[in-house]
Amino acid sequence: MKIIHSVEALRQAVKTEKKVGKSVGFVPTMGFLHEGHMSLVKAAKKDNDFVVASIFVNPTQFGENEDLDAYPKDLEGDQNKLEQEGVDILFYPTVEEMYPKGYSTYVSVEGDMTGVLCGSSRPGHFRGVATIVTKLFNMVAPDRAYFGQKDAQQVSVIERMVKDLNMDLEIIPCPIHREADGLAMSSRNTYLNEKERKDALVLSQSLFEAKETILSGERRANKIIEGIIDKISTVDYAIIDYVEIVDALTLHKIDEIKGDILIAIAVKVGKPRLIDNLRLEV
Ligand code: PAJ
Repeated sequence: MKIIHSVEALRQAVKTEKKVGKSVGFVPTMGFLHEGHMSLVKAAKKDNDFVVASIFVNPTQFGENEDLDAYPKDLEGDQNKLEQEGVDILFYPTVEEMYPKGYSTYVSVEGDMTGVLCGSSRPGHFRGVATIVTKLFNMVAPDRAYFGQKDAQQVSVIERMVKDLNMDLEIIPCPIHREADGLAMSSRNTYLNEKERKDALVLSQSLFEAKETILSGERRANKIIEGIIDKISTVDYAIIDYVEIVDALTLHKIDEIKGDILIAIAVKVGKPRLIDNLRLEV
C-alpha cells in the first residue's frame, strides 16, 4: 500500500491506474478504523480493481464545542488494517494540503435535508462534510464511493449532492456494522467507560423494540418515538439529542409510519454523543 500525502501525487497515481482501464473504488474516513469502516473497504475491494482509502479528520465539519482536537487517532493500526485488506493507496493529507491559506469555497446542500436530525443539532456540519467529500471526489475521481448507513443522513446528503452537481460516480451505501451485542460500531465508542458501554445498548435495543412494535401493527410515529424515549430514559444520565422518524429519502418528518422510513436517534451517553438508526420498509 502506498501512503500519499499530496493531492498532486494522488492524482498521478490514480491516473496511471485509470489509463490501463482499472475501476477505482474510494472509501473516505477520519481514521481510528474499526470493523464498520473495514466493511466499506471490503465492499470496495469486491467491486473495484483499485481501491483508495483516505484518512483526514476534517476540521470544517466539527462545531466549536465538538471533539476535533480529541478525535482518536491510531495511524499505525489503521495502516495495518488497510494493508491487510489490500487497499492500494492510503491518502493521508495535512490540513494545510486540504485547506491552504486563502481557502474560501464551500459546498452546501440546502433545505430540509440538512436542517433536521444531526443537521439541526450540529449547524454547519453537513456543509463541512459536503465540502470535503466534493474535494476528495475531485482528487480521487473514483468510479464508486462507499458510505455507511450508520450515518444515514450523511448518505442522503451526499446522494443529493452527487445528483444535484452531476458528479460522475456511484455512491454505494453499506449496512450498519454492529458489535455482537448490537451496539453500532463507532470511533466514539472508545470514550465510553465500562458502565456507559453497557448502558449504551439502550440505543440499539430501543430501535429493535421499535421495529417489533411497528411489525406488530403500530403506525403512529409519536407512539413509537415515546417507546424509544422511555427505553433510553431507563439510563438516567443519558441525554437525548433527538429521536425522530422521517421519510428515508426526503428526511421529512412523518406522522404515519408508511413506506420507506428511517428512525434516527442521537443520545449523549456520558462523554460521547452516539447515533444509531434503523431503516424499514413498511
Ligand atoms: P468516519 O466517521 O470515519 O466514517 C467513515 C465511513 O465509515 C462513513 O461512511 C461511516 O458511515 C462509515 N461507518 C462508520 N461506522 C460504521 C458502522 N458501524 N457500520 C458501517 N459503516 C460505518 O463519516 C465520516 O468519517 C466523515 O464524515 C467523512 C465522510 C470521512 C467526511 O469527512
